[in-house]
Amino acid sequence: MARKPIIAGNWKMYKTQSEAADLANGLASAVGTYDKVDVVVCPTYTSLEVVAQAIKGTNIKLGAQNCHFEAEGAFTGEISLAMLKEIGVEFVIVGHSERRQYFGETDAAINKKAAAIYKAGLTPIICVGERLEEREGGKTSDVVTQQVKGCLADLPADKVAASVIAYEPVWAIGTGKTASKEQAQEVHALIRKVVAEMFSQQVADAVRIQYGGSVKAENARELMAQSDVDGALVGGAALKADSFAGIIKYE
Ligand code: 13P
Repeated sequence: MARKPIIAGNWKMYKTQSEAADLANGLASAVGTYDKVDVVVCPTYTSLEVVAQAIKGTNIKLGAQNCHFEAEGAFTGEISLAMLKEIGVEFVIVGHSERRQYFGETDAAINKKAAAIYKAGLTPIICVGERLEEREGGKTSDVVTQQVKGCLADLPADKVAASVIAYEPVWAIGTGKTASKEQAQEVHALIRKVVAEMFSQQVADAVRIQYGGSVKAENARELMAQSDVDGALVGGAALKADSFAGIIKYE
């Protein structure tokens, strides 16, 4: 089954509003009409509105980096899905390793967020990935399997099929150390197998799995050539229009 590649830029806590607008304008000129891959940009909350304006009428889609799972309420400092949706957000990253590490996000919380994202009519980008000591201890398969099972537990199959999972080995994030194409393919195939076991082969064949961790224009092509790699979630190299455009046009 042909899955359309999806390449997303996670801008993390970089770019003020004016810087974000500049980057989005640069991307709109560089890749705004490119349609061989789905392109998503995920700025900080404070820049969503200006980026939405800058990418209006282009093929670039808007994503957020987090959300709360409740519809509304007394949750100081949090942002609801309705707030994101009104601005034009279509994708929401959940369970990024930085949120797991620094903000205590658990698989159970990610699972709740994914369910809320579906309910709001948006698409989650659900992140999983092992830490260095887990890989070195031979625990990669166990860790990733457990994360996928915990994050996707009891979610509706048709929604999971339309979702995005990002495999981001923690040791590859921001380190310049990319997983080899074989390492990426091995874990992507495992994730697809777990999804098949949890739901069905049809769901597993449809879900798109991104690789994330030191992706740049120079390594995007060989990673994307792997049969189970359907895209990339890009941090550092997504912060400049030319380098992100180079990844998007990896072919
Ligand atoms: P880098 O591309 O900077 O390694 O970051 C990857 C990442 O965490 C994307 O979510």
